[in-house]
Amino acid sequence: MKKKGGIKARNDVSELIQVMASLTSEHNLERLLKLIVQSALDITHSDAASLYLREKDQLRFVITSNKTLERRMGKKVFESTIKAFTVAISKKSISGFAAYTGKIVNIKDVYKIEGKPYSFNKTFDEINKYRSKSMLTVPLINREGGVVGVLQLINKLSNKNKLSTYKKYDEEITISLGAQAAVALENVQLQDDLLKAHYDSIMRLSAANEFRDNETGFHVQRVSFYCELLARAYGLEEEYVKNIKYASPLHDVGKIGIPDNILKKPGRLTEEEYEIMKQHTLIGGKILVNADNDIMRLAQELAVSHHEKWDGSGYPHTLKGENIPLSGRITAIADVFDALSNKRVYKPAFPLDKTFGIIEEQAGIHFDPQLAKVFISIKDQVADVFERLKDED
Ligand SMILES: [Fe+2]
Ligand SMILES: [Fe+2]
Repeated sequence: MKKKGGIKARNDVSELIQVMASLTSEHNLERLLKLIVQSALDITHSDAASLYLREKDQLRFVITSNKTLERRMGKKVFESTIKAFTVAISKKSISGFAAYTGKIVNIKDVYKIEGKPYSFNKTFDEINKYRSKSMLTVPLINREGGVVGVLQLINKLSNKNKLSTYKKYDEEITISLGAQAAVALENVQLQDDLLKAHYDSIMRLSAANEFRDNETGFHVQRVSFYCELLARAYGLEEEYVKNIKYASPLHDVGKIGIPDNILKKPGRLTEEEYEIMKQHTLIGGKILVNADNDIMRLAQELAVSHHEKWDGSGYPHTLKGENIPLSGRITAIADVFDALSNKRVYKPAFPLDKTFGIIEEQAGIHFDPQLAKVFISIKDQVADVFERLKDED
């Protein structure tokens, strides 16, 4: 650290402290991964960085950033060329070695590795016409001393943006960053586990309710997945996508307040009975009212609004167009699609093609035309869910 100027070092440290604070306050995994990689690039002044997460005895490559290639082909294009892969935690690869031994690996030139158990895989460089040279690979170690992932920095740049090598100082600062990243990652994963447990309970409760008028509990699961797929394809933020996935199984929770003789009636409902049936939206709204978290608030919104129609002919509030909450518009498509494509006491199952045809026909009438279009564009993904979660006859 001889040549490291005092002011520069202090700047790095204050930057690092700021980064550490922001890491712990990020609760979204995707954003956290981006933040870790970006901070690592900035703090160490590297050209590229990748992050791997541990999954049992392997590392899963989750994210990468490469300034040179992003400049050359554009960030979006570069990101679209990245393929997911896994690496065994063993001494054979550089990242595997770091995870296996829990030690930092600092290499001056990855094309000149000699006398080591690991070697460098040039495939990425060859495909992208890139030259990886210096590399710093740091295991992310949690409080209990376990490896949760690996952070890999590539091509240290000098102040004049010339290729350089990683020094002791870079090692130290990256280890600090890595430790903080490990804690933040673990926290998010714990939160995710909690969310999954939460989802599981929502699903079971919704399915229990569903058993009353429908022999299987798969309806709510499929609706949940369709909502997730549609929200994502529509370009909504991952946070919202996750929330609607977890909230939508509750869309019909208000049916709990509908008497059996109406809910289970095989034939057509009389006008009076239909009026009672419609109440399930408002009852759902009451059950879910005053929630203190985003998922339940969204559940309340879509429980009330999933039978509104784009042209204003729905219920309970005859809302029109974009006055209908987005969650209600999304759930409406998922719910109707599922009701049509499956057998009900009052109707046979329609084939998928016919069902998509109806969604298309009803775009701008029953459904938000934009959403309907997106839903049809993801036919294949929808069909996958349909096949995977088929009702048994
Ligand atoms: Fe409903
Ligand atoms: Fe439903």
